[in-house]
Amino acid sequence: MVLIDIKHGDKQLDRKNRYMDITQWVNRELVIGGRTVSNRLALAPMAVLGNVALRSIIADHGGCGLQFMEMCNARAVPHENRHMSMTFKWRDEELPYLVCQLFGSEPDTLARAAARVEKEGFFGVDLNFGCSVAAICKKNCGAALMKDPDLAGRIVSAVRKAVSIPVFAKFRTGWTPDPGPAVDLARRFEYMGADALVFHPRVSPDRRGRAPLWDHIRRVKEAVSIPVFGNGNVFDSEDAVKMFETTGCDGVAIGRMAVVRPWIFAVMARGFVPDAQICERYAHDLLDRLLAHFEPHIAVKTFKKTALYYSANFTFGQSIWPALIKGDTPSQIRENIRRLFKGNPLIAQSPNRNMMI
Ligand SMILES: Cc1cc2nc3c(=O)[nH]c(=O)nc-3n(C[C@H](O)[C@H](O)[C@H](O)COP(=O)(O)O)c2cc1C
Repeated sequence: MVLIDIKHGDKQLDRKNRYMDITQWVNRELVIGGRTVSNRLALAPMAVLGNVALRSIIADHGGCGLQFMEMCNARAVPHENRHMSMTFKWRDEELPYLVCQLFGSEPDTLARAAARVEKEGFFGVDLNFGCSVAAICKKNCGAALMKDPDLAGRIVSAVRKAVSIPVFAKFRTGWTPDPGPAVDLARRFEYMGADALVFHPRVSPDRRGRAPLWDHIRRVKEAVSIPVFGNGNVFDSEDAVKMFETTGCDGVAIGRMAVVRPWIFAVMARGFVPDAQICERYAHDLLDRLLAHFEPHIAVKTFKKTALYYSANFTFGQSIWPALIKGDTPSQIRENIRRLFKGNPLIAQSPNRNMMI
């Protein structure tokens, strides 16, 4: 169990109150738009990586209150076949804690897509105002919408009117280091009917090179009365407690670390202690589950994308990664995994952050 020394400014607190167990921060219910979430941890949305296979591994370990799907194109969602789609794909049993993220730029289109999300039985719908990838921003989607707060607000309002499930908005600091526009946008989102916010305090187009400024999470949280999930650079229990403690956020959304170690939520929520074989099992399991949900060539491609993050688990991850992704067939990948573990690779206590780009 991880015990964290919590600093309360200059306040003198007795010893009992100064130490708070991570599980106490995490294992508190949270009500979002009238629906209850079992705890305060969420899987952040990640294109490709946050696929149905990874989500099922996270779910089997437990400890994660909400999972966000990888972003789905709002134009496609109303007529998407869930069994053929690469992104709009789920297992029915995850619906009670699954939030579908949509990207788009037209309020009506997003409202139609959100209506389908509600009809399918998802916990909620999340609107992407944070993706700063050029291909998305060029279409006036993702973080590009932060340059047009009026349109961003109208999107939230249209989706709010279209559904009764919880509506989330995920956004970031914006296009300049000044947190003022993000704080204004947070208020606007709340006013337009959002039920919760997920805030990643980085400037666009900076992706993950520089540290996020957690103090901006505090400012966003103080500006609204709906729940706020803080996000960015939470790698372990200590980081999570610090984020709760210093920002006042209601929940913590974890992205890359959940790809590196999908059991991270179980560690935080229920003191799970991984055994020495967990990384080996994870690699085989991920490949199996990707193959169960996708065509073999897509499963291999997705495994390769995940492998960069997965390799961060090892002391010599930089050289392990190229060996893991050699070949184009499932059996070649399987053989790569077997070969890796025959060599008893050293598992790093803390993953190599340089590989978590
Ligand atoms: C490969 C990758 C894909 C991502 N895709 C999305 C996405 O589809 N939608 C979104 O809102 N954020 C996306 N993000 C951003 C994450 O949700 C999160 O904000 C970011 O990784 C910071 O959190 P972390 O430090 O816990 O990883 C992506 C991040 C990564 C690494």
